[in-house]
Amino acid sequence: MRKKIVAGNWKLNNTLDQGLKLASEIVNMMNDEVKEDVSVVLGTPFIHLSSVSKITNGNANLHVAAQDCSTHSSGAYTGEVSVSMINSTGASHVIIGHSERREYHNETNEELATKVNLALEAGLTPIFCCGESLNIRESGNHEAFVSNQLSESLFHLTEEQMSKVVIAYEPIWAIGTGVTASSEQAQDMHKALRAYLATKFGQASADNTSILYGGSCKPSNANELFSQPDIDGGLIGGASLKSRDFIDIIKSF
Ligand code: 13P
Repeated sequence: MRKKIVAGNWKLNNTLDQGLKLASEIVNMMNDEVKEDVSVVLGTPFIHLSSVSKITNGNANLHVAAQDCSTHSSGAYTGEVSVSMINSTGASHVIIGHSERREYHNETNEELATKVNLALEAGLTPIFCCGESLNIRESGNHEAFVSNQLSESLFHLTEEQMSKVVIAYEPIWAIGTGVTASSEQAQDMHKALRAYLATKFGQASADNTSILYGGSCKPSNANELFSQPDIDGGLIGGASLKSRDFIDIIKSF
């Protein structure tokens, strides 16, 4: 049985104090209100990881993620943060290949493969992001494009390694735009990606891989998205910054 997961991606938001306040609210509301077995991940800026991990570690369903990691393990790389540094904060996950990093930092599928390897070696769970631009969607090549992102960054893994990876499908045209992919568009892509994973890793492995949807997911549309057979949860941007909205999304399964 694959896991249900809701991950928040705070992006470049929240000072340390604001982040701690938000995380505390989420911990309290999770403890009071969330009865379902859902893994919840808080994707915070690097500076929050250690203190948010301390707040969340009393709840076994709550986890903390970095939003990126270096392609290097250590050395003269000013400003970079390595997987072992992330691990040492108590964080257990790392978001890899978000479209904003692909676009603004020119991250390539090959570099992302390196990051996935380093994350797995460090015992972190990669949340590997993929997704197409509006141009690619309109050209009709979206499934081939996203499949290629998976094959170039993940298909060198063993089945055992792949069992530790979470995938997040985030169509770029739906991120922060208020335009959500319809549940049918999202389901079609998730189904296609699962079938594609099966060609490489086998059906059992594909069936056990959690594939999250991201892009303008909010309390009003989460239930319809999460009810789709191949959608196992969400990667949430804007709505993860408000504890009430985030908790309502978690309660949408
Ligand atoms: P929004 O939920 O703000 O559209 O962002 C989605 C996202 O990019 C999560 O990683």
